[in-house]
Amino acid sequence: MPVLFDIQTFDLLDSTNQEVLRQAEAGAKQGLVVVAKQQTAGKGRLGRSWLTLDDALAFSVLLRPQIPTRQVSELSLLTAVALHQCLQPYIPDIGLKWPNDVLIHGKKVCGILTEMRSRSGHDLAVVLGIGINVFAPAHGWPSDILQPATDLQSHTSQPLKPATILASFLAELSDWLDIYAEQGFAPIRQAWWRAHIASGKPVKVYDGQGYIQGLAVGLASDGALRLLVNGEEQRIIAGDVTLND
Ligand code: BTN
Repeated sequence: MPVLFDIQTFDLLDSTNQEVLRQAEAGAKQGLVVVAKQQTAGKGRLGRSWLTLDDALAFSVLLRPQIPTRQVSELSLLTAVALHQCLQPYIPDIGLKWPNDVLIHGKKVCGILTEMRSRSGHDLAVVLGIGINVFAPAHGWPSDILQPATDLQSHTSQPLKPATILASFLAELSDWLDIYAEQGFAPIRQAWWRAHIASGKPVKVYDGQGYIQGLAVGLASDGALRLLVNGEEQRIIAGDVTLND
């Protein structure tokens, strides 16, 4: 069944994820989409902050899936697949990088932050938070940015409109949620692995303490990266992946 989206647009918010979490707490339904033109406290992965610069697209979607909480990471990967599918017609060589960055030529163009709340394992609310750099910031990228960044418009001659990108992403999201409900995670895992820039390649993973070198051999069903290290498989559950030169 297609998801019915209810889009609310704000000029300024602390964070679209926070707003959706607040509304979820107050009983908002699945399909709520909160868009903000500016965020004062945009949240990134691993406790980092996320800057919403000039005409960037920042939004969050509320889902209320009937799945155990351990499967929520599958919805993050599903979101990355939906984003990839919606942006590839504009930029054919856009790719995913584990865990769920969207990159163009090694530079980050979108980020995804998934959060959840549940009351003793019930009433699961999942927030898919998505930031997309649609245009280059007028004054350039901040010098203290953690990862090299780029924007969509610099890589396509088609004029882009944030509202069109949002609509096509929501259509893709609804389609992939249908596939997930009918066929489970397997088709999402396959689509994700095809779009992943490091599939089958040598990589190094920074796990917060040091680097692990290995061959990226697969995506586990819980979203862990399967890495072949000195002939033995390791599961990476958190970290930053870099392609080996
Ligand atoms: C990342 O670190 O890669 C994830 C960034 C996610 C940013 C988006 S912007 C919209 C939504 N609201 C937030 O506060 N964060 C997410």
